[in-house]
Amino acid sequence: MNRILTAAVVAATMISVGVVQVSGAQASDAEALKAEAAKAVMAFGGPLKKALEDGMQQGGPLNAIGVCNEKAPGIAQQAAADTGWSVARTSLKVRNTNNAPDAWELATLNEFEARKAGGESPDTIAKAEIVEENGQKTFRFMKAIGTADVCLNCHGANLKPEVAAKLDGLYPNDQARGFSTGDIRGAFTLKKAL
Ligand code: HEC
Repeated sequence: MNRILTAAVVAATMISVGVVQVSGAQASDAEALKAEAAKAVMAFGGPLKKALEDGMQQGGPLNAIGVCNEKAPGIAQQAAADTGWSVARTSLKVRNTNNAPDAWELATLNEFEARKAGGESPDTIAKAEIVEENGQKTFRFMKAIGTADVCLNCHGANLKPEVAAKLDGLYPNDQARGFSTGDIRGAFTLKKAL
């Protein structure tokens, strides 16, 4: 039988993973895994945020699109190499179809929307679970990513025409528009084989 364990994990810096439940793990293991996952989120999210901010400062959204497009996958790979975790981003409305959610991620993203509708802040919404994937026990972790004002330059409803045109060229199936501040834009998604 799975035991449900609840514990608070507070990351050392600005990204906190809040209170998450892990089913099917010993308390100490769950704590260690969640702490590791929080570090991996920071290893990915920190440099990504910095690259976006630098890109925006250097040449506005048109320039920063290139940064996200070219640097995001490399930053994810680097974070994975540094931490040993698989790290990525996903969303119910993806821009890059490589980021489309799998079944567990889809269910979790829907759960995140329900939690937000129930009053929870995207800043604290996260979930951890141990699942069996092809006979392999795997620790999975997702943390919601809220939409800030700056995100609207590229994910909002009213994009500058040149920004929209560049996105159209790079992402013909772009669904990641029409967001408002405070929406859940997507989530960091991490996993590790146990
Ligand atoms: C300068 C334009 C730009 C800005 C500003 C921007 N993004 Fe993006 N975003 C992109 C691009 C381009 C991609 C696709 C990256 C790729 O190809 O992997 C993307 C992808 C994403 C994804 C991955 C899921 C998907 O849709 O493919 C998330 C999550 C995301 N952005 C969140 C944010 C958040 C949160 C902010 C604000 C803090 C933000 N973005 C600001 C351009 C931008």
